[in-house]
This record gives sequence, structure tokens and C-alpha cells, in this order.
Amino acid sequence: MKFCGVEFKNPMVIASSPLTSKLEMLKAADRAGAAAASTKLTFIKQPFYGKLRMHTYEKNGSIICYDRRLDIDEGLRLTDQAKKETNLKLFCNITNDGEDLEGWAFLAKKFEEAGSDLVEANMVCPNVGLSTKNIAGDSAISKTEHGGAVTGQDPVKIAQVVKTLKESVKIPVIVKLTPNVTDIGVTAKAAQDAGADGVCLAGAQSSLPLVDIYNEGKPGYHLLNGVSHGSLGGPASKLNCFSLVANIAKKTNLPIIGGGGLETFEDCIMMMMWGARLVTVCTAAMWYGWEVIEKQVRGMEEYLQKMGYSSYDEIIGKSLQYLRSSCDLEAIPGYPVCDESKCIGCGRCAKPGHCNAITMNGKRPVIEGEKCLGCGICVGLCPAKALSMQASE
Ligand SMILES: Cc1cc2nc3c(=O)[nH]c(=O)nc-3n(C[C@H](O)[C@H](O)[C@H](O)COP(=O)(O)O)c2cc1C
Repeated sequence: MKFCGVEFKNPMVIASSPLTSKLEMLKAADRAGAAAASTKLTFIKQPFYGKLRMHTYEKNGSIICYDRRLDIDEGLRLTDQAKKETNLKLFCNITNDGEDLEGWAFLAKKFEEAGSDLVEANMVCPNVGLSTKNIAGDSAISKTEHGGAVTGQDPVKIAQVVKTLKESVKIPVIVKLTPNVTDIGVTAKAAQDAGADGVCLAGAQSSLPLVDIYNEGKPGYHLLNGVSHGSLGGPASKLNCFSLVANIAKKTNLPIIGGGGLETFEDCIMMMMWGARLVTVCTAAMWYGWEVIEKQVRGMEEYLQKMGYSSYDEIIGKSLQYLRSSCDLEAIPGYPVCDESKCIGCGRCAKPGHCNAITMNGKRPVIEGEKCLGCGICVGLCPAKALSMQASE
């Protein structure tokens, strides 16, 4: 399949992260079957040298507020070696002060020379500006902190950087946008109008961790002397990222890379059905290893065959046809039905506080269809998947 004119053997891109900061990991990505990787964020001058620190909650995700990025010589060496020793297509994930356009151009040219296949302009990282802005406002941001999400919140700066990059390199220019804006359609459109070849939208909602309510509200992480508004990766961002990707798909013609909380091959297919042409994965592979990528790649290929699709192109944006504004939606009357061969009699479906349509008769749910609001919560909560909604006409 093609993305911005570059051939990809499948839609799987390993997202820029510690998974893409070393040659040995890029080789593991290659072995796992990924088509591409976005090398770890590289600076001309790092605002600070962090170390990897994360707050991790398995049901929700990880928050990253401190991490080690690459200096330019490290990023270029990694790219050069990975081009020689893997079959991966490589995005170079770079950022710079939004006002230092020459710096952006310099970085992109250097990576093009080193062999990167596409530029991924990082306008997403909240740790290099947004975390300062979120506690003290714009004026508190230091000169070196202006990259990442701060640039990605400003359509004017996005356009300036994209134009500069397009004038500087021949390889495609992708913008990885921050989701921390009021309308992602506006920033994506700014990228498109300035000539970007594509956009990437993948998690990174600004987030704060759980705190210890029995210890003065201290955030529950010990190898750090505080906390800052960090970037969310993992399952909690998936549904929000579907919405952001679909928003961009409707408002621009740009090819989209979509990610955020993709754990299974089904998640990847769904992201594509909401409009993504390629998908990215980070947290799932950090949590569970490269096996996740192998399963996703194999699962997607098998799915295409099983469903009789001849290429990934046939599934991209399939779900967009169902998108309409809320005032154009019409409710279909109905109620839940229970498959008693599956029901385990747990009574979960009778619990919702706003509903009196289901009561338990011993271990058996009794459903009064005329009392049902039709919300579908019971279907979502049933641990045995015994309930389904049925239209009443
Ligand atoms: C530890 C860590 C470091 C990351 N570093 C970068 C980075 O350097 N550049 C970047 O664009 N995104 C970075 N990200 C964001 C990921 O690339 C990805 O977009 C995000 O985590 C959402 O995908 P996921 O839910 O699959 O993790 C990082 C994420 C994690 C967890």
C-alpha cells in the first residue's frame, strides 16, 4: 500500500518512543513485521535531558512527563544504521522552536540525507512547552521550549513550519498534531493549506496521574521529585482518537496516520475504518512486548483475507458514512433480549440506577421491554455478552 507516495508493506508504524530510540529495537520492530517506525524525537538542542518516567495504570494508560530524547548526532546515526540493517520505512520525528524555521529546515535536511523516508514534524509533545504553559501561561515558556504541542496549537506556526519543511526537503512532510486543541479540524486544515503531505494523530492528551489521598495528595510515583502535565498513551485515548481521526478525515483530504490505544488487530482495523491509512502503536508494545505487533500485523492480514477485501484501501474510512450530526440522528425503538444459554445470572444488567426495565427473578433477568429507555448500558456491561438490543418494529 502507498502512503504519500511511499510504499508500505502493511499499515503498521511503530510510534516514536523508547521503542524507536535504539537500533536493537528497530530491528525487533522489523522482525515483528512492522512496515515502518518513527525514530525517537530528535532536537538540535534539547531543552532538558530527561529520563524515562511513567505513571502506568493497566486499564487506562501511561502518562509520560519526562523522557530522554535524542541529540541530532544520535538521531542521524540511528537512521543511517536502521536504513542499512532493517527493511523499515523511517519517519524522522523532529521538533524545534516554532520560530526558528531555519532550525526546522536544518533538521529535516540532515535526516533526509541520512535516509529518512518521511519527515514527521512533532507538534504533539507536551513536555517541551505545553507542560509549562499549562501551569504558568505562554509567557513562562523558555526559548528552547517552543516546540512540540505549543507549535501544534497555533495554526499560523503550523503553516510556517510546514512551508519551510516543504521548501527544504523532497521527502513527504507529515505533521504529528497535538490533540490538545479546541478543534483538530482547524489545525489539520492549517497543515493541509500549507502543503503538508499528511497528518498523524495519536494519543498524547495532556493528563495528570492519580494521587495518594492518604499522603497529602502526593502523585504515586517515587523516582521523580514532582509531576508535570504529561502525555497520555494507551487504552484510555482510543475512543477519543477515533473521533479526532474521523474529524480530520471529514475536513481535509490529507492521508492520516491514526493511533492512540491500539492494542489488538481489531483496534487497528477500526482506526482505519474511521479514516486512518496507517496506524501507530506504542503503549501496547511497551507494556506487552513485540508479540503485540506480530499479532496485530498477522491479524490485519488474516482479517482482509477472511472478509474478502483485496487491499487495505477498501477499508479506509468505511465507517465515516455513518457519521452525522446529533440532530440528524433518529432513535429506533427497542429493548434488550437475553440469550439464556449465555446468561450467568450475575444480575449486573439489573443494577443501572436510571433503569427499571430489568429485575432479577433468582438468577434470571426479567426484561420489561415497554419500560426500557433503549440506552444499551446493560448490553455493554453484561460480562457474558448474553444481551443484545432488538428493534421493536
Ligand atoms: C514513553 C513514551 C515516549 C514517547 N515519545 C514520543 C516522541 O518522542 N515523539 C512522539 O511524537 N511521540 C512520542 N510518544 C507518543 C507515542 O508516539 C504515541 O503517539 C502515543 O503514546 C499514543 O499511542 P499509544 O496509545 O499506542 O501509546 C511517546 C509515548 C510514550 C509512551
